[in-house]
Amino acid sequence: MADTTSTAKGGPHAGGPEIKRRDFLHIATGAVGAVGVAAAAWPFISQMEPSASVVAAGGPMTIDLNKIQPGQQVTVLWRSKPIFIVHRTPEILAKIKEPSDLAMLRDPDSENLQQPPYATNWSRSLTPEYLVLVGICTHLGCIPDFKPDAGDATMAAGWPGGYFCPCHGSKYDMAGRVFQGVPAPLNLPVPPYVIKDKTNLVIGENPEGESFSLSEVMQL
Ligand code: FES
Repeated sequence: MADTTSTAKGGPHAGGPEIKRRDFLHIATGAVGAVGVAAAAWPFISQMEPSASVVAAGGPMTIDLNKIQPGQQVTVLWRSKPIFIVHRTPEILAKIKEPSDLAMLRDPDSENLQQPPYATNWSRSLTPEYLVLVGICTHLGCIPDFKPDAGDATMAAGWPGGYFCPCHGSKYDMAGRVFQGVPAPLNLPVPPYVIKDKTNLVIGENPEGESFSLSEVMQL
């Protein structure tokens, strides 16, 4: 299906790509097998856009989970970084546990510190159905394309669904785990976040008793 994820480049050693507010309007969406969802996504985008003061301050950002359909990805800008929020389906969750797919990954158990302790698990998340990632390739900082469909005809045979970085060909699965044999060395980072209730996910806050900071990851 159509992927409208915007792309930007920048060096990870410079703190990730610089994205202007104009780019924030290009919030990306995608969905598994949902024809027409991309066009229908624009209302979600305008409703999710936080105030200019929130963006400028880099404070916690609340996302309304009701507005992310199963299989869909929404991208928001937090602290000048694209943050992917994906509503994973049961099919996607089953796929990221398949041994044949795990065998393709460089760090399937998320042993490298690229996520908070509360997301160091099989789904790399607080709640398996919602994936939250910093959308910056760990090679040289491009923004990977969302390619959620297993068997996507634009990808190589056996594609399990995930992300493809068009800059130098790095690949990640639907938990943001990097493939073997690609330039990117590490899984996509998971930012601090908390799910307050069935509706509200807050980026930039930790669950009670946790104190994870994005500055702790091995590489952005
Ligand atoms: Fe993603 Fe090089 S920046 S593969």
